[in-house]
Amino acid sequence: MTKKIALNMLAVALLLNGAAPAIAQDADPNTLAPSKAPERTANGLALTPPMGWNSWNKFACNVNEKIIRATADAMASNGMKAAGYQYIVIDDCWHGQRDENGFIAADPARFPSGIKALADYIHSKGLKFGIYSDAGRKTCGDRPGSQGHEYHDALTYARWGVDYLKYDWCNTGTRNAEEAYTLMADALRATGRDIVFSLCEWGNSRPWLWGQKIGNLWRTTGDITDKWEGKYGYSWGVLNILDMNEPLWPFAGPGHWNDPDMLEVGNGGMTTTQYRSHFSLWAIMAAPLIAGNDIANMDAATREILLNREVIAVNQDALGIQGRRISREGNREVWVKPLSGGGRAVILFNRGESSEPISVGWEELGYPATLKASIRDLWAHRDLKPVAGRYAATVPSHGVVMLKVQP
Ligand code: GLA
Repeated sequence: MTKKIALNMLAVALLLNGAAPAIAQDADPNTLAPSKAPERTANGLALTPPMGWNSWNKFACNVNEKIIRATADAMASNGMKAAGYQYIVIDDCWHGQRDENGFIAADPARFPSGIKALADYIHSKGLKFGIYSDAGRKTCGDRPGSQGHEYHDALTYARWGVDYLKYDWCNTGTRNAEEAYTLMADALRATGRDIVFSLCEWGNSRPWLWGQKIGNLWRTTGDITDKWEGKYGYSWGVLNILDMNEPLWPFAGPGHWNDPDMLEVGNGGMTTTQYRSHFSLWAIMAAPLIAGNDIANMDAATREILLNREVIAVNQDALGIQGRRISREGNREVWVKPLSGGGRAVILFNRGESSEPISVGWEELGYPATLKASIRDLWAHRDLKPVAGRYAATVPSHGVVMLKVQP
């Protein structure tokens, strides 16, 4: 091959590779077909959306090793581990100072046994361990960030046994996001350890267009807060985040997920019906299922939501297609996620203030109208009478009916 042809081929390859919006064109918004593009993943990890727990939504900066150990104990014994939850992630404020060679240590008052011992403990429970840093000079909580210390920190995390890094975007000045996240991805890769890489730059630089080659998940929005709807400073309620994340469905797939932020289920600011909707909608959007409540002290209603294995199975389906809204009439919405095996997960969602009948026709799901499908209610945990044509249900205010429809 001549040099010129080789260069041309390289240019074409680069063009194809760099043309991230091609994913959007491939995914025909009028069908439920997944993107045809072969998925090039960053590191081969997170082939289904990551599941676990993160300290921020409940504990914010008040983290210590006692809380993290108790959380690991709970996850290993309360059914969560068996249901697929895996990562225990310490968010901001675990940090102490850097030493004279630039290596970071944990806050000795909060983590007197050190992070390595904590990671060992979490691993001994059959769970995985995640940590948090920031691409700027300081984290959002004003602790040392990784800027200028990317290789130091990646090496330190690998030595500690870190399996997951959430990498935030505060105090980054004029840094370019794609470049900054690539630098840390390279540093993680250089350690040789499998580390899921979670990009947390809030969707500012549209990471869905470039994140797939760098990391496994990217935040699509500002922070979630424990409210149904509205904007609260830099944070948003569930409905607002839902509507920002939904249109990005073509960009999700095995190894690379849209991240509409962690769960608020069980934190007390919403009703059980709203939490059930929050969990169901995050599940159908193939969002990471990262619990954000105090799982060592949760009530039965919270447990029932987080441990609904039928809903989790929808989230963890091997096809890895992000579900989306296929119809919206006033407060009545229908959401669909194609599943492996030819079935569909369906959510009938009522945003209104009173109960409403909502229905879905088989043709909307890509099936013939005459098809006799079996239907399972994933919250009632029972099979419904097989019907042809369509299914209708009365859905409570702010509630969902979540189904699996199987031809
Ligand atoms: C940002 C992130 C949050 C959390 C905090 C920690 O706001 O978006 O998820 O990590 O920082 O300070």
